[in-house]
Amino acid sequence: MKQYFNLSQAAVQQIAKTYGTPTLVLSLEQIARNYSFLTEHMPGVKLYYAVKSNPDERIVRTLAGLGSCFDVASDGEILMLSDMGIEPERIVYANPIKTSGGLEIARQKGIHSFTFDSESEIGKIANVLPGATVLLRIKVDNPRALVDLNKKFGAAPDEALDLLRKARAKGLDAAGLCFHVGSQSTSSEAYLAALQICRGLFDQAAADGFQFRLLDIGGGFPIPTGTQKIDVAAMTDEIYASLKANFPGIEIWAEPGRFICGTAMSLITRVIGTQRRNNQQWYFLDEGLYGTFSGIIFDHWIYDMETFKNGAEIMATFAGPSCDSLDVLYRDKLTVPLEMDDLILVRNCGAYSSASATTFNGFAKAKIVVWEKICEEMIDYKSLPNAG
Ligand SMILES: Cc1ncc(COP(=O)(O)O)c(C=O)c1O
Repeated sequence: MKQYFNLSQAAVQQIAKTYGTPTLVLSLEQIARNYSFLTEHMPGVKLYYAVKSNPDERIVRTLAGLGSCFDVASDGEILMLSDMGIEPERIVYANPIKTSGGLEIARQKGIHSFTFDSESEIGKIANVLPGATVLLRIKVDNPRALVDLNKKFGAAPDEALDLLRKARAKGLDAAGLCFHVGSQSTSSEAYLAALQICRGLFDQAAADGFQFRLLDIGGGFPIPTGTQKIDVAAMTDEIYASLKANFPGIEIWAEPGRFICGTAMSLITRVIGTQRRNNQQWYFLDEGLYGTFSGIIFDHWIYDMETFKNGAEIMATFAGPSCDSLDVLYRDKLTVPLEMDDLILVRNCGAYSSASATTFNGFAKAKIVVWEKICEEMIDYKSLPNAG
């Protein structure tokens, strides 16, 4: 059974007292555990952490120290990694649509690996980075993913050979394929189907003179939700078995984002207003849709709220602190009745949450404190169990 970072009620109270709210608590040990889990279940697969899921420098440094590589989406992410001393060989620029500024920064920083899924991208890459290594992103349908990226990205398998030939004709090093089954994919099914498609395309490409050496299976690895426990060990073991059987001698990459950072962060927020309106109870929190809860909109995530209270549940509306009427987190949500100043713990909110938070209305982004650091620095915390 995988161990997850969890804060006890006593720890939540102590952190709220020391740092105020809203505060995000980050466990770098959990980041390391998540990284090791994937390397243990898929040995030899090179992991490129998807920086977009949570670009916190402490996460990136922890992973860099463990030998991770990185998947970037923009010039900003390239510059951040480069400033941290991460070598260009450890970076793949895996946004199928790159800006000219992004390509120029990639050139300046010595990045050599890219993905593409269209003819227009071939010309762009070849002009700025002649001879660059490119992976063709294949579209793999997976309506069961929480975030289906294949509505926006990926070449249809029957266009693949034509695009690969065009990349080769432009002098690019067409070295293999990549795909992304969609974020929070809860079974191995979509991966196994994608691997079969890729196997067929590897064969067609070989017959056409390509010598493929790389396959990038993207991200999508899931984390548990309030309502769903997922056997990621069984899932990754099945994916790994298929990789071994179908792609001997091929270097395999993966681009996990959510799986690495999702379970490593928890939010502590507080009730700052209560009202009864239209016969329903409203609770206003000091963190909202424009902050950490931005994942409700951008990531379609349903956050689990722990109130540490018992009692008969009522239907309530939860809203954020801004003056915008859009800033409502949940309507008709079952909860035990709350009072002013009550603390709420939101677990597993490390992915696509603080990454898309804004300072709209002048609210600062929730501060992020590192659990292991505060335990180390403050004697009081050592007595507080990590409830995990
Ligand atoms: C190209 C690419 N790779 C990796 C990821 C990370 O996906 P996940 O967080 O589902 O692991 C994403 C997410 O959007 C992506 O676009």
